[in-house]
Amino acid sequence: MPSGARRTPSRKGSMVDVPKDMLDQIKKLEDLFIVDGQKLKEVTNQFVSELVRGLGQNDATIPMNPTWCMAFPDGNETGTFLALDMGGTNMRVCEVTLTEEKGEFDIIQSKYRMPEELKTGTADELWAYVADCLQQFIEYHHGDEKIEQLPLGFTFSYPATQEYIDHGILQRWTKGFDIDGVEGKDVVPPFEAALAERGLPIKLTALVNDTTGTMIASAYTDPLMRIGCIFGTGCNAAYMEDCGSIPKIAHMNLDASLPMAINCEYGAFDNEHKVLPRTPYDIIIDKESPRPGQQAFEKMIAGLYLGEIFRLVLLDLHQNHECDFFAGQDISKLKKAYSLDAGFLAAIEEDPFENLSETYDLMQNKLSISCTKPELELLRRLAELIGTRAARLSACGVAAICKHKGWETCHVGADGSVFNKYPHFKIRGAQALKEILDWPENKGKGKGDPIEILPAEDGSGVGAALIAALTLKRVQQGQNAGIRDPEAMKKAAALASKAKPSK
Ligand code: BGC
Repeated sequence: MPSGARRTPSRKGSMVDVPKDMLDQIKKLEDLFIVDGQKLKEVTNQFVSELVRGLGQNDATIPMNPTWCMAFPDGNETGTFLALDMGGTNMRVCEVTLTEEKGEFDIIQSKYRMPEELKTGTADELWAYVADCLQQFIEYHHGDEKIEQLPLGFTFSYPATQEYIDHGILQRWTKGFDIDGVEGKDVVPPFEAALAERGLPIKLTALVNDTTGTMIASAYTDPLMRIGCIFGTGCNAAYMEDCGSIPKIAHMNLDASLPMAINCEYGAFDNEHKVLPRTPYDIIIDKESPRPGQQAFEKMIAGLYLGEIFRLVLLDLHQNHECDFFAGQDISKLKKAYSLDAGFLAAIEEDPFENLSETYDLMQNKLSISCTKPELELLRRLAELIGTRAARLSACGVAAICKHKGWETCHVGADGSVFNKYPHFKIRGAQALKEILDWPENKGKGKGDPIEILPAEDGSGVGAALIAALTLKRVQQGQNAGIRDPEAMKKAAALASKAKPSK
């Protein structure tokens, strides 16, 4: 529902039947998970200084990676481009034709499931799978047509340092990926080798983070867009900096006024645990994860972890015996790590019934646990607490970028499963922005707020294609900053403008 943010909860909820010892547990959880406005301000201020530190040095906690995407689109970009999105669940290949009409495009796309085993398999298997998907796409949509070359924008949504726009050294895997031999290396050569092995007529033109793609795609249709954000399996944002404000690239002597998109990679915020109000459950999540000590902020707010935080609390309540909780029930299913996802929490928060009968069914079907009414009330309150904390802390990252840039008004394009599907996420985030930025009482409602977080355009499809187009455009104009092989890019530009859209 597009205006889900403004929906008023349809259930009153009552704790009258909840026994005192369970109420005490609920109070304890509230103390752990509620983040008040003062704390949000403190987090945001620390965030601002970490963003600035990341612009200045290469080993800061928040990487602030320059991406070599150096312009917003003006709507006059043209040509046919491939876009590949290697997300966490699916792989998507698109062919985007930016047409002569200003700001218009045609798109065809195919989705491929990303097998779960691939995330912990070998690098060769990963690149072979990615290249196979591209091959299938080209064979399906172009059959025997003779294609000389198609430029590709590759959305690779993991932290990568980019010396050039078609280059990226993976700093570390995030979002549960754990493939050996990729971290610390350039991901492009093995990818290109897999393309070459299959004889695919593709020229990688830009490696793109999903947040940068989101920002660019959103700016294509809305000139007020300044930031692209993902609130999904992982979390992150990108925005346009000016080269003069990025001391760590001063040695490149770029014109100080040139824009440069920064992929913040701010899921890593507060890895030192200075300011985020971590609970014992957040500490367990981190310890048990494939990369302990990394992505501290992301692990408190992103979709991958919300269900797991919830599960850990339930398990603790059962095991600490401070109240009767799932007494006499078989909790073996609850013991399985990552068995609950953010959709489970979302469904609990959306249960419209006074007696929480949908929550009862969910617990029964998923975990074979029959809940009492007080237990159901606790589950609902806990889901609210975890979902609200995620939305409120998420707002700190956006507020920090705006404070750093001195932007009092702007639009922010947001995408990701949590933003799009989690109930009340938008309105809770808007309320938090209001508290952080001291907006007047009538603001903080989403629509019409000074800083408005809006559903983004398709970043990993249209955004990646636009970034490829912008790159080719600037090479043709002789702007070669961050371009490894200008001649090859010029050739790609000439071919892109000739390429025919598929029928
Ligand atoms: C990744 C980012 C990405 C974000 C959202 C994080 O885990 O490190 O590169 O932008 O997830 O997908």
